[in-house]
Amino acid sequence: MSEYSEKFEKMRVAGKLAAQTLDMLTEYIKEGISTNYIDKLGYEYIRDNGGYSAPLFYRGFKKSLCTSLNHVVCHGIPTEDRILEEGDALNVDVTAIINEHYGDTSRMFCIGKTSVKLNNLIETTYESMMRAIKILKPGVKLGDIGNEIQTYVEKKGFSVVRDFCGHGISTTFHESPNILHYGSKNTGIELKPGMTFTIEPMINAGKFDVKMLNDGWTAVTKDKSLSAQFEHTLGITENGYEIFTESVKGYSKPPYN
Ligand code: MF3
Ligand code: CO
Ligand code: CO
Repeated sequence: MSEYSEKFEKMRVAGKLAAQTLDMLTEYIKEGISTNYIDKLGYEYIRDNGGYSAPLFYRGFKKSLCTSLNHVVCHGIPTEDRILEEGDALNVDVTAIINEHYGDTSRMFCIGKTSVKLNNLIETTYESMMRAIKILKPGVKLGDIGNEIQTYVEKKGFSVVRDFCGHGISTTFHESPNILHYGSKNTGIELKPGMTFTIEPMINAGKFDVKMLNDGWTAVTKDKSLSAQFEHTLGITENGYEIFTESVKGYSKPPYN
Protein backbone atom coordinates (compact mmCIF):
# COMPACT_ATOMS: atom_id res chain seq x y z
CA MET A 1 0.00 0.00 0.00
CA SER A 2 1.41 3.36 -1.00
CA GLU A 3 1.05 6.35 1.30
CA TYR A 4 -1.37 7.98 -1.12
CA SER A 5 -3.65 4.98 -1.75
CA GLU A 6 -6.36 6.31 0.59
CA LYS A 7 -6.27 9.70 -1.10
CA PHE A 8 -6.50 8.05 -4.53
CA GLU A 9 -9.44 5.91 -3.40
CA LYS A 10 -11.35 9.09 -2.46
CA MET A 11 -10.31 10.87 -5.66
CA ARG A 12 -11.64 7.89 -7.62
CA VAL A 13 -15.03 8.22 -5.95
CA ALA A 14 -15.20 12.00 -6.48
CA GLY A 15 -13.95 11.76 -10.06
CA LYS A 16 -16.44 9.03 -10.88
CA LEU A 17 -19.33 11.07 -9.50
CA ALA A 18 -18.34 14.08 -11.62
CA ALA A 19 -17.94 11.90 -14.72
CA GLN A 20 -21.26 10.14 -14.13
CA THR A 21 -22.94 13.51 -13.81
CA LEU A 22 -21.75 14.39 -17.33
CA ASP A 23 -22.78 10.92 -18.51
CA MET A 24 -26.28 11.50 -17.12
CA LEU A 25 -26.52 15.00 -18.61
CA THR A 26 -25.55 13.77 -22.08
CA GLU A 27 -29.03 12.52 -22.98
CA TYR A 28 -30.63 15.82 -21.89
CA ILE A 29 -28.27 18.18 -23.70
CA LYS A 30 -30.38 18.74 -26.82
CA GLU A 31 -31.85 21.63 -28.78
CA GLY A 32 -34.60 23.41 -26.81
CA ILE A 33 -33.42 23.08 -23.20
CA SER A 34 -31.96 25.94 -21.16
CA THR A 35 -28.49 25.93 -19.67
CA ASN A 36 -30.22 26.45 -16.32
CA TYR A 37 -32.00 23.13 -16.71
CA ILE A 38 -28.60 21.45 -17.15
CA ASP A 39 -27.53 23.15 -13.92
CA LYS A 40 -30.61 21.94 -12.04
CA LEU A 41 -30.18 18.35 -13.27
CA GLY A 42 -26.51 18.36 -12.34
CA TYR A 43 -27.16 19.79 -8.88
CA GLU A 44 -29.83 17.18 -8.13
CA TYR A 45 -27.80 14.25 -9.46
CA ILE A 46 -24.75 15.10 -7.38
CA ARG A 47 -26.88 15.72 -4.27
CA ASP A 48 -28.84 12.47 -4.74
CA ASN A 49 -25.57 10.56 -4.97
CA GLY A 50 -24.21 11.87 -1.69
CA GLY A 51 -22.10 14.74 -2.98
CA TYR A 52 -22.22 18.51 -3.33
CA SER A 53 -21.59 20.75 -6.35
CA ALA A 54 -18.32 22.54 -5.68
CA PRO A 55 -19.00 25.65 -7.82
CA LEU A 56 -22.17 26.53 -5.88
CA PHE A 57 -21.30 29.57 -3.74
CA TYR A 58 -17.61 29.16 -4.62
CA ARG A 59 -16.24 32.72 -4.53
CA GLY A 60 -19.75 34.04 -5.12
CA PHE A 61 -20.58 31.79 -8.09
CA LYS A 62 -24.35 31.18 -7.89
CA LYS A 63 -24.78 28.04 -9.98
CA SER A 64 -23.75 24.39 -9.60
CA LEU A 65 -21.77 23.96 -12.80
CA CYS A 66 -20.40 26.01 -15.68
CA THR A 67 -21.97 26.11 -19.15
CA SER A 68 -19.70 27.76 -21.73
CA LEU A 69 -21.22 28.24 -25.17
CA ASN A 70 -19.46 28.89 -28.49
CA HIS A 71 -17.07 31.83 -27.96
CA VAL A 72 -17.26 31.50 -24.15
CA VAL A 73 -13.87 30.19 -23.02
CA CYS A 74 -14.88 29.10 -19.51
CA HIS A 75 -16.98 29.85 -16.40
CA GLY A 76 -20.19 30.52 -18.35
CA ILE A 77 -23.13 30.95 -15.97
CA PRO A 78 -26.23 28.80 -16.56
CA THR A 79 -29.36 30.83 -17.28
CA GLU A 80 -33.03 30.26 -17.99
CA ASP A 81 -32.77 32.66 -20.96
CA ARG A 82 -30.28 30.69 -22.99
CA ILE A 83 -31.95 27.88 -24.87
CA LEU A 84 -29.69 25.50 -26.79
CA GLU A 85 -29.96 25.87 -30.55
CA GLU A 86 -28.83 23.93 -33.60
CA GLY A 87 -25.13 24.58 -34.20
CA ASP A 88 -24.25 25.46 -30.60
CA ALA A 89 -21.05 24.09 -29.07
CA LEU A 90 -21.32 23.76 -25.31
CA ASN A 91 -18.79 22.92 -22.62
CA VAL A 92 -20.25 21.62 -19.38
CA ASP A 93 -17.82 21.67 -16.44
CA VAL A 94 -18.82 19.66 -13.37
CA THR A 95 -17.02 19.56 -10.03
CA ALA A 96 -18.32 17.23 -7.32
CA ILE A 97 -17.20 17.06 -3.69
CA ILE A 98 -17.69 13.83 -1.81
CA ASN A 99 -15.84 12.68 1.35
CA GLU A 100 -14.02 16.04 1.29
CA HIS A 101 -12.44 15.22 -2.07
CA TYR A 102 -13.02 16.94 -5.43
CA GLY A 103 -13.54 15.55 -8.91
CA ASP A 104 -13.41 18.14 -11.72
CA THR A 105 -14.19 17.32 -15.36
CA SER A 106 -15.62 18.91 -18.48
CA ARG A 107 -16.63 17.82 -21.96
CA MET A 108 -17.88 19.44 -25.16
CA PHE A 109 -21.40 18.87 -26.48
CA CYS A 110 -22.59 19.69 -30.00
CA ILE A 111 -26.21 20.62 -30.65
CA GLY A 112 -27.40 19.19 -33.96
CA LYS A 113 -25.08 19.34 -36.94
CA THR A 114 -21.51 20.58 -36.51
CA SER A 115 -19.32 22.44 -38.96
CA VAL A 116 -16.04 20.93 -40.12
CA LYS A 117 -14.17 23.72 -38.35
CA LEU A 118 -15.93 23.18 -35.02
CA ASN A 119 -15.40 19.47 -35.28
CA ASN A 120 -11.71 20.01 -35.94
CA LEU A 121 -11.42 22.40 -32.96
CA ILE A 122 -13.09 19.91 -30.63
CA GLU A 123 -11.00 16.97 -31.88
CA THR A 124 -7.80 19.00 -31.51
CA THR A 125 -8.70 20.11 -27.98
CA TYR A 126 -9.48 16.57 -26.84
CA GLU A 127 -6.40 15.14 -28.52
CA SER A 128 -4.14 17.80 -26.97
CA MET A 129 -5.40 16.89 -23.49
CA MET A 130 -4.92 13.16 -24.10
CA ARG A 131 -1.44 13.62 -25.55
CA ALA A 132 -0.42 15.54 -22.44
CA ILE A 133 -1.95 12.89 -20.17
CA LYS A 134 -0.15 10.06 -21.94
CA ILE A 135 3.31 11.44 -21.12
CA LEU A 136 2.57 11.66 -17.37
CA LYS A 137 4.86 9.80 -14.95
CA PRO A 138 7.26 10.68 -12.13
CA GLY A 139 10.13 12.85 -13.33
CA VAL A 140 8.19 14.52 -16.15
CA LYS A 141 8.17 18.30 -15.67
CA LEU A 142 5.23 20.70 -15.74
CA GLY A 143 6.67 22.45 -18.81
CA ASP A 144 6.56 19.14 -20.68
CA ILE A 145 2.77 19.04 -20.21
CA GLY A 146 2.30 22.57 -21.52
CA ASN A 147 4.70 21.97 -24.38
CA GLU A 148 2.87 18.82 -25.47
CA ILE A 149 -0.44 20.71 -25.68
CA GLN A 150 0.90 23.92 -27.23
CA THR A 151 2.94 22.18 -29.91
CA TYR A 152 0.05 20.01 -31.04
CA VAL A 153 -2.55 22.78 -30.97
CA GLU A 154 -0.46 25.37 -32.81
CA LYS A 155 0.45 22.84 -35.51
CA LYS A 156 -3.29 22.57 -36.15
CA GLY A 157 -3.58 26.37 -36.47
CA PHE A 158 -5.39 27.00 -33.19
CA SER A 159 -4.27 28.84 -30.03
CA VAL A 160 -3.89 27.98 -26.34
CA VAL A 161 -5.59 30.28 -23.81
CA ARG A 162 -3.02 31.74 -21.39
CA ASP A 163 -5.31 33.31 -18.76
CA PHE A 164 -6.61 30.06 -17.22
CA CYS A 165 -4.85 26.87 -16.28
CA GLY A 166 -5.24 23.45 -14.71
CA HIS A 167 -4.62 23.11 -11.00
CA GLY A 168 -3.76 20.82 -8.14
CA ILE A 169 -6.91 19.34 -6.63
CA SER A 170 -7.64 17.01 -3.71
CA THR A 171 -9.28 18.24 -0.49
CA THR A 172 -9.45 21.75 -1.96
CA PHE A 173 -10.87 22.80 -5.33
CA HIS A 174 -7.87 24.76 -6.58
CA GLU A 175 -4.45 24.17 -5.06
CA SER A 176 -0.85 24.29 -6.23
CA PRO A 177 0.65 23.65 -8.66
CA ASN A 178 -0.79 25.59 -11.59
CA ILE A 179 -0.81 23.42 -14.71
CA LEU A 180 -0.14 25.69 -17.68
CA HIS A 181 -1.29 24.46 -21.08
CA TYR A 182 1.66 26.05 -22.88
CA GLY A 183 5.37 26.08 -22.12
CA SER A 184 8.83 24.71 -22.75
CA LYS A 185 10.13 21.19 -22.31
CA ASN A 186 12.24 20.38 -19.28
CA THR A 187 11.10 23.42 -17.25
CA GLY A 188 9.10 23.68 -14.04
CA ILE A 189 8.72 21.26 -11.14
CA GLU A 190 8.92 17.49 -11.49
CA LEU A 191 5.90 15.24 -11.16
CA LYS A 192 5.95 12.95 -8.12
CA PRO A 193 3.87 9.88 -7.21
CA GLY A 194 0.73 10.90 -5.31
CA MET A 195 0.27 14.29 -6.99
CA THR A 196 -3.30 14.97 -8.12
CA PHE A 197 -4.25 17.73 -10.57
CA THR A 198 -6.35 18.67 -13.57
CA ILE A 199 -5.44 19.16 -17.20
CA GLU A 200 -8.06 21.36 -18.89
CA PRO A 201 -6.85 23.07 -22.05
CA MET A 202 -8.97 25.90 -23.45
CA ILE A 203 -8.30 26.13 -27.18
CA ASN A 204 -9.43 28.98 -29.44
CA ALA A 205 -10.09 28.86 -33.17
CA GLY A 206 -8.69 32.40 -33.41
CA LYS A 207 -6.31 34.31 -31.14
CA PHE A 208 -5.70 33.31 -27.52
CA ASP A 209 -6.76 36.63 -26.00
CA VAL A 210 -9.60 36.51 -23.51
CA LYS A 211 -12.00 39.15 -22.21
CA MET A 212 -14.03 39.03 -19.00
CA LEU A 213 -17.72 39.98 -19.16
CA ASN A 214 -19.28 42.37 -16.63
CA ASP A 215 -20.72 39.49 -14.58
CA GLY A 216 -17.16 38.92 -13.34
CA TRP A 217 -17.15 35.25 -14.39
CA THR A 218 -17.83 34.68 -18.08
CA ALA A 219 -14.58 34.64 -20.05
CA VAL A 220 -14.96 35.03 -23.83
CA THR A 221 -12.55 35.13 -26.76
CA LYS A 222 -11.65 38.74 -27.56
CA ASP A 223 -11.98 38.11 -31.31
CA LYS A 224 -15.30 36.23 -30.80
CA SER A 225 -13.82 33.04 -32.27
CA LEU A 226 -15.01 29.65 -31.07
CA SER A 227 -13.39 28.08 -28.01
CA ALA A 228 -13.37 24.48 -26.81
CA GLN A 229 -12.28 22.72 -23.62
CA PHE A 230 -12.03 19.27 -22.03
CA GLU A 231 -10.92 18.54 -18.48
CA HIS A 232 -9.80 15.48 -16.55
CA THR A 233 -8.74 15.08 -12.93
CA LEU A 234 -5.86 12.64 -12.57
CA GLY A 235 -3.16 11.33 -10.29
CA ILE A 236 0.50 10.43 -10.72
CA THR A 237 1.36 6.81 -9.84
CA GLU A 238 4.74 5.07 -9.35
CA ASN A 239 5.20 4.59 -13.08
CA GLY A 240 2.46 6.53 -14.83
CA TYR A 241 -0.92 8.09 -14.17
CA GLU A 242 -4.53 7.33 -13.35
CA ILE A 243 -7.49 9.29 -14.78
CA PHE A 244 -10.18 9.70 -12.11
CA THR A 245 -12.85 11.26 -14.33
CA GLU A 246 -13.15 8.79 -17.19
CA SER A 247 -16.71 8.40 -18.52
CA VAL A 248 -18.36 5.21 -17.31
CA LYS A 249 -20.39 5.08 -20.55
CA GLY A 250 -17.52 5.68 -22.98
CA TYR A 251 -18.63 9.30 -23.55
CA SER A 252 -15.13 10.71 -23.86
CA LYS A 253 -15.77 13.13 -26.76
CA PRO A 254 -18.61 13.86 -29.19
CA PRO A 255 -20.49 12.36 -30.93
CA TYR A 256 -21.96 10.50 -27.93
CA ASN A 257 -23.99 7.75 -29.56
N1 MF3 B 1 -14.52 23.82 -12.77
C1 MF3 B 1 -13.68 24.97 -12.99
C2 MF3 B 1 -12.27 24.46 -13.08
O1 MF3 B 1 -12.05 23.61 -13.88
C3 MF3 B 1 -13.82 26.01 -11.94
C4 MF3 B 1 -15.15 26.63 -11.89
S1 MF3 B 1 -15.19 27.76 -10.62
C5 MF3 B 1 -16.72 28.40 -10.77
O2 MF3 B 1 -11.38 24.79 -12.37
F1 MF3 B 1 -16.91 29.06 -9.70
F2 MF3 B 1 -16.78 29.12 -11.86
F3 MF3 B 1 -17.58 27.44 -10.86
CO1 CO C 1 -10.49 22.54 -13.02
CO1 CO D 1 -13.63 22.26 -14.10
